[in-house]
Amino acid sequence: MIDKATLYEALAVLVAVVAGGVAWRRFHPLSFWFGVGFPARAVWLYATWLHVASACKLTHKRRRWRISLDTVPVIGSASREAMAVVERRHLRRVEVERAPRLGIIRPSRLGWRLPIKLNDGQIPDDFAKVAERLAHAWRAHAVRVLDSKPGKVVLIATRKDPLITVAPMAPTPDDLLTVRPGVLENGRPWVIDFKTVPHWLLAGATQSGKSTLMNAIIRGLAPQPVALVGFDLKGGVELTPYADRLSALATTRATCVQLLEGLVSELTHRMADCREHGVRNVWRLPEHLRRTPIVVVVDEVAELFLMADKAEKEQVAKTATALLRVAQLGRAFGVYLIVCGQRIGSDLGPGVTALRSQLSGRVCHRVNDPETANMTLGDMDPAALDAARAIPTETPGVAIVAGSDGSWHRARSALTTEAEAETAAHAHRELTTPWAQLVRTTPRAIPDDQAA
Ligand SMILES: Nc1ncnc2c1ncn2[C@@H]1O[C@H](COP(=O)(O)OP(=O)(O)OP(=O)(O)O)[C@@H](O)[C@H]1O
Ligand SMILES: [Mg+2]
Repeated sequence: MIDKATLYEALAVLVAVVAGGVAWRRFHPLSFWFGVGFPARAVWLYATWLHVASACKLTHKRRRWRISLDTVPVIGSASREAMAVVERRHLRRVEVERAPRLGIIRPSRLGWRLPIKLNDGQIPDDFAKVAERLAHAWRAHAVRVLDSKPGKVVLIATRKDPLITVAPMAPTPDDLLTVRPGVLENGRPWVIDFKTVPHWLLAGATQSGKSTLMNAIIRGLAPQPVALVGFDLKGGVELTPYADRLSALATTRATCVQLLEGLVSELTHRMADCREHGVRNVWRLPEHLRRTPIVVVVDEVAELFLMADKAEKEQVAKTATALLRVAQLGRAFGVYLIVCGQRIGSDLGPGVTALRSQLSGRVCHRVNDPETANMTLGDMDPAALDAARAIPTETPGVAIVAGSDGSWHRARSALTTEAEAETAAHAHRELTTPWAQLVRTTPRAIPDDQAA
């Protein structure tokens, strides 16, 4: 018999433990996760794996020999009613379910990482298809599949959406042509490195976060020794605030053509420089001959391709051709593109489709029409397209980011206001290279007898 005092004591201890746990979780959720949440989750996950894998159709059936113990009734000879029971061992072939073997689960700040050995005949895609089911079964925000080695996958689970709040990124003036506009879903910084992926397409419906991302990129590039050139046919409303840091800004169709011709001419010069020195790109030129890298920012690309009347047809054609040339030649000769658009459809003409194929970096915010999502991510992993379609209106700035290597991430830009980007542009205005110094417009032949 437990006396009352002991019972009260036990209850008091229980209440103290629960209250302590609640307070720990509330005031230091990260250490609570590592100390309590993760170990409990890991035990539960291993214990329920066969059941979860079976529900997700990840198990294989195998026939196995099993010894089973059967009880057999024996009817006695003296009386028909008298029965005895004997136990007999039987060797039987039975069907057993076999789940893919789990490796050692490891915690991370955002969730956990679980390596899994694939069953024979399985491929990583089998797991990618049921990633959402696994996320629900494990009470996780999302599960992503990495195929690490042949025969193995690593599942990355995130407990809650890390993109709900994104802290502003520190400017990184030391990394030339690299900006960190936000964070990726895995908690790592989102890095845009123009030297690795030279041209970017930023798509998104209205109020989806395109300008905010552009602000973050301009703020990141402003302190770097790069030239910025703007194209803004929405009357310059988007890019004029950064005019201090722009070497040139085109706000009319005529200036667009003029600036693009200037860029193509400069590219021809850079190409000739490389040929003269027998190198394949500007980064291999002797340092004193290297020209300032140029980042071309195009706001609302559709405006460049739409024509109000036939008179504009020639200018549109010239713009499309020159922009395509800049994209084709730019990657080797230090001219990079950021092309922004609400709607990027094939109805804007073949120029858009050709340009898109040159823009290997893709950022797809929430979009309204499936064609824009298709044009932005359609040639990537179909799962990226599904993830883009699932971006809710309540989280502007969330986007699917895909690089040229086929990998993709959910990411969110840090909220960077126009005023912040304008302040950065103004503060670093002394780094602006005047247009006349930036581009060489005198005709120059490319030597064709000194192959690189
Ligand atoms: N990364 C972000 N984090 C938090 N809020 C954001 C983020 N990006 C955008 N927003 C919010 O969404 C609003 C709209 O964003 P933004 O102006 O960048 O959209 P947009 O795609 O450029 O729209 P439009 O096509 O109309 O120009 C911003 O005013 C801001 O309040
Ligand atoms: Mg905008």
